Amino acid sequence: MENIETLKSQTLAAVAAAADLKALEEIRVATLGKKGSVTELMKGLAALTPEEKKEAGKGLNVLKTEIEAALDARRAALAEAELNAKLVSEKVDVTLPVRPENQGRIHPVSKIYEEVAAIFGEMGFEVAEGPDIEDQFHNFNALNTPANHPARQMQDTFYIPNPESDNFDDSYVVRTQTSAVQIRTMETKRPPIRIIAPGRTYRSDYDATHTPMFHQVEGLVIDKNITMAHLKGCLYDFVKAFFELDELPVRYRPSYFPFTEPSAEMDIGCKKTKTELKIGAGNDWLEILGCGMVHPNVLRAGGIDPDEYQGFAFGMGMDRLAMLKYGIPDLRTFFESDVRWLKHYGFVPLDTSSMTGGLSNNGGAAR
Ligand code: DAH
Repeated sequence: MENIETLKSQTLAAVAAAADLKALEEIRVATLGKKGSVTELMKGLAALTPEEKKEAGKGLNVLKTEIEAALDARRAALAEAELNAKLVSEKVDVTLPVRPENQGRIHPVSKIYEEVAAIFGEMGFEVAEGPDIEDQFHNFNALNTPANHPARQMQDTFYIPNPESDNFDDSYVVRTQTSAVQIRTMETKRPPIRIIAPGRTYRSDYDATHTPMFHQVEGLVIDKNITMAHLKGCLYDFVKAFFELDELPVRYRPSYFPFTEPSAEMDIGCKKTKTELKIGAGNDWLEILGCGMVHPNVLRAGGIDPDEYQGFAFGMGMDRLAMLKYGIPDLRTFFESDVRWLKHYGFVPLDTSSMTGGLSNNGGAAR
């Protein structure tokens, strides 16, 4: 028994002194391994009488448990020390300024998103969202555009088969317009409603001003006694704030959308020359958005009584807004993920947009 005590104190001292996991493993093998000292002592029990065996066996089991516990504790302590050393060696000082050449940039579409949300946020609008993959009910039917309605041909829709149905009317779509969020909002909110819904939209189209995925922002206001005057005032304030101009001529042209009646398109004044487009007073007009008074059928589809409530809605392309405001000529370049492009047209991350601090005053990185 005496050598058990010696073995114990020697082993525990070695464990405490082990400098790394490898040294610890060596101690384990030398004591508890197949040919280890404790294992050998246990084998020696066979030669003892039953009485002696009981006594000695107990002592050896206690020793084994103690060694195992010491190994586990030391292993945990070493692992923690190793992690701490790693954390110290990899420490990053987040308060250091970023080298300009390494700094990321905010994509122009994200910037427009921020600007639009800042302007409408100030007017009391909330941001609403809906899924990119929609059913035809939300993207079309509930927006007064049933199957075989000619207006469906206005949009080159990507359809997605419904694995549970062979009926084409049950197939899904990647939403062609954020207008779908109008219906989703009415399904979950009661008036007064004042939302904008920015997001991705999809159509089969590709040239300098069209990409299969693009971004729209939808607006919807529903309350009692809402008139077209509210629509005009709201959008007039928006375009002036957005283009950061005190004066900006606007006009509304009659148009057609299935989900609004009457429908209009809003133009802003501009001056077009061969090489330049200048937003503001001038002899030319530029179409900027579609809008109108929410069609009673749409209110009904959203579970709102059109005899009690009215509303207006509008929708516009955010990428197009970015092209106009920041003079970016080709939409396809937006989605090519070319870092040089982003460095040129992108924005400094900390320059957030607000109505009080300026929308884009702090300027794009390149301007
Ligand atoms: N969804 C239309 C489009 O993609 C845009 C639009 C027009 C939205 C009029 C509206 C609206 O909410 O009232 O072409």
